[in-house]
Amino acid sequence: MFFIDKLDLKKEQEFLIVGLFEDEGLAFNGSELENSDWIGHIQDFISTGDISPQKKEVSIIHTFNKTGPKRLLFVGLGKKQDVTTELIREAFGKACKTLKAKQAATGAIYLDSFATENFDAKRLAHIFAEALALSTYTFNGYKTNKKEQSKLESITIYTDLAPESLKDDLNSGYVYGTATNSARTLVNTPANFLTATDLANYAIRLAEKYGFAVEILEKADCEKLGMGAFLAVNQGSDQPPKLIVLKYQGKQEWKDVIGLVGKGITFDTGGYSLKPRDGMVGMKTDMGGAAAVLGAMEIIGERKPKQNVLAVIPATDNMVSGKAFKPDDVITSLSGKTIEVLNTDAEGRLVLADAVTYAKQLGANYLIDVATLTGGVIVALGSDKTGAMTNNEDLYTKVFVASKQTDEMIWQLPITEKDKEKVRNSKIADLNNSPSREGHAIMGGAFIGEFAEDTPWVHLDIAGTSVVKANTDLCPAGATGVMVRTLATFVNEF
Ligand code: BES
Ligand code: ZN
Ligand code: ZN
Repeated sequence: MFFIDKLDLKKEQEFLIVGLFEDEGLAFNGSELENSDWIGHIQDFISTGDISPQKKEVSIIHTFNKTGPKRLLFVGLGKKQDVTTELIREAFGKACKTLKAKQAATGAIYLDSFATENFDAKRLAHIFAEALALSTYTFNGYKTNKKEQSKLESITIYTDLAPESLKDDLNSGYVYGTATNSARTLVNTPANFLTATDLANYAIRLAEKYGFAVEILEKADCEKLGMGAFLAVNQGSDQPPKLIVLKYQGKQEWKDVIGLVGKGITFDTGGYSLKPRDGMVGMKTDMGGAAAVLGAMEIIGERKPKQNVLAVIPATDNMVSGKAFKPDDVITSLSGKTIEVLNTDAEGRLVLADAVTYAKQLGANYLIDVATLTGGVIVALGSDKTGAMTNNEDLYTKVFVASKQTDEMIWQLPITEKDKEKVRNSKIADLNNSPSREGHAIMGGAFIGEFAEDTPWVHLDIAGTSVVKANTDLCPAGATGVMVRTLATFVNEF
């Protein structure tokens, strides 16, 4: 897929991608070509604005067989000192998407034309490979007329900077991108094709591929253990629940274990606190947290960091039937804490309560849960920021630093003592699952925090960020695979 070489303007390519800064000219002079004058004319196009160096502007010129590359694809980067990872990743994405749209089979990129003081060839290689995978993703779907797939077979990376060591960075970037795409596909898959059993089978295949230990707790196992909160949510379903556990041991001993817990509601009707008909559409994506954790595990399996990681995914749908749980029911969680159910649509926190407790029982020393938990987080932060809550600022800072590298924006919401009192406010049980609509996202976080207890824990509410309405430079409309890259980066750098 990837070849690494020194810049060679004689070699045939369908496209050569070149970065263009506003405050600099063309990054090569074409002196290796007989007709280097011709390359010089491109500079004129830049001055006339026919080739634009404005941020993310794409300009394509045909080279009329004067150079090996048939077309030069310029992507604008704005001013050099203003360049950010986000801009570079999106610029790469836009360029790669253009190659896909033009049905190119071969392409090349002159990586050095994107380099600045802060972005060396290694970092650029990772970001480029990641952007390539992310931006050319398509969900096949079920249309009888198949969507256009990318025809790209090979990309040559031209660089004079550090050719030998780039292979690993290209590999890591590509793995980060493709694992995110795997998560996207899980989330885009309709609930009739992705039940808890399907999700468990997916996890088993992942475990076989990467040698993870795997444990799938069946309904009877969960009953024996006393996972009353998880089971209550499954009560109305004809589909059996699955509590999925994957273990990756990257250290000699099973200590300093990072627990990744993902909400795996394969469809959320709301239960008897039924969602309105419009609010129910899209609830196949309520397993976005599970997908993020599985995507991160794919990266971990490929890259094998020296860390211990435990993935725990409570998987079930949330349905209505004569057997379903109801508002007013009181249930007993795995932790022993009792919960008054005020709203069956606040089911995510219930399944996560038992999953978090189980992760702790299996030895997790740090916990990160990822969940499409509340509509409230979208009201609070919009659909481009993941809401974060924590009981440990140091752990949160580590997650935040990781998110800065991946440009998956997270923003912290507080959990105060008064917030905790609200979830502890019940006349007949220890907790209630839905105190009020005020501070909605915080109530969800505070509830899960009751089960994390003293274990350092970060909660990531991805209800807003797990899908996008319209195509972006790096993602078609639909599932984003958000937090796959951040979780993997966090684990890698922990
Ligand atoms: N799965 C939903 C949250 C959600 C909403 C995800 C929109 C993606 C988009 C969750 O289970 C839910 O229904 N939350 C309720 C909580 C409330 C009943 C306390 C909500 O946000 O309204
Ligand atoms: Zn719900
Ligand atoms: Zn839900």
